[in-house]
Amino acid sequence: MENNPTQTFFDKLARCIDEKKLIKLTISSQRNKSSDLQSIIITLTNLKRGFRLNFVYRHTTKDITKNYEFDEGIGIIRKALTEDFYNADLFSNDENVRLATNPAGKVKISSQEPTLQPVTEFHHDHIKSRLINTTGNIYLRELDIINANWEVRREMSDKFRQINRYIELIEPEIKDLTLPDNYHVVDMGSGKGYLTFALYDYLANRLKNTPEMIGVEFREDLVNVCNAIAGKSKFDHLKFISGTIEKADLNRIDILIALHACDTATDDAIYRGITSGASLIVCAPCCHKQIRKEMNVTSELQNVVRYGILKERQAEIITDTIRAMILEANGYRTKVFEFISTEHTPKNVMIVGRKTSKENPDKEKIFNDIAAIRKVYGIRKHYLEELLKSNEI
Ligand SMILES: C[S@@+](CC[C@H](N)C(=O)[O-])C[C@H]1O[C@@H](n2cnc3c(N)ncnc32)[C@H](O)[C@@H]1O
Repeated sequence: MENNPTQTFFDKLARCIDEKKLIKLTISSQRNKSSDLQSIIITLTNLKRGFRLNFVYRHTTKDITKNYEFDEGIGIIRKALTEDFYNADLFSNDENVRLATNPAGKVKISSQEPTLQPVTEFHHDHIKSRLINTTGNIYLRELDIINANWEVRREMSDKFRQINRYIELIEPEIKDLTLPDNYHVVDMGSGKGYLTFALYDYLANRLKNTPEMIGVEFREDLVNVCNAIAGKSKFDHLKFISGTIEKADLNRIDILIALHACDTATDDAIYRGITSGASLIVCAPCCHKQIRKEMNVTSELQNVVRYGILKERQAEIITDTIRAMILEANGYRTKVFEFISTEHTPKNVMIVGRKTSKENPDKEKIFNDIAAIRKVYGIRKHYLEELLKSNEI
């Protein structure tokens, strides 16, 4: 590749450190096979005093972590490659580069397209305190979000961020509610339970509340796994039941959560919340097939639904607008906002309704407005509206 492979490698390393494009550098292949030090993994870390190189020294039975200033760290890397190891694998946002030395001292450099996710956020020690603790957190470990050392796995950091963000958003809503001591929370379509566990943990261990919480999920395998994790976590008032959102046997709902429940399952969940008089309904809708299929635009808005992806977005906007309006009509003060950046998940709209009155005096007008929207888009029915109508709420 180049005349002096070692120099080329260190130039590339210095550049990607400067440009904050270093994902990780792994130094491996011991020169002395009996050495206890197996490898060194180097990443960038953002400390209060500035960016540093974070070294994890992997020994046979333990890891030792140290932070160094760039120049000092690069010096240590040079020394490690001359004295202790044969190979260095550099993963940057732009490329993967390998510097390999053979026992005879011949050095080669090679490069390939990047294979790791680019770094968008660096670990730092002054990150605002997370609402979810990782140390000693059994459910996060069982769900593989953290490792045996209670650290968030790199590949699960988006999920962990999403969980924290969700608790951050829901915190003020719940703190303001007036609820009985053993209020009932239900998570509709709880799936693997990531958010169910986090919410229970927050309510029981942070707020010191004593809620009764149920996760409803039709996949029995997930229900069994989640009940086992709840047991291990000693979450005594959290259980998962196998059933459908529509029919699950729930005698009371004070707070209803439905995150990413597919298509009309979100409507079924909202319907259960409204008809139970839940104080808080929180949902993050998923796909919007029902309205997409219904849309039959013949007006001057035809072109707005001409392109597939844009039609999908229109369907999403209409479905969720009508859901929010229906909540308003039923006495819920409703907000719709972005849940988490689209960088982390495309399913990022959250609808939160807080029961403020038994019924909205403008209910009829709201349903007329909904009918007007449907007419413009040639939509015969909105699933949630139909559910409520057929059950005369
Ligand atoms: C996309 S996952 C979301 C899981 C979880 N709420 C989350 O946000 O991580 C949707 C889950 O809802 C479940 N589900 C969908 N429709 C359902 C229904 N009508 N009744 C019960 N569970 C349902 C699916 O089996 C799936 O596990």
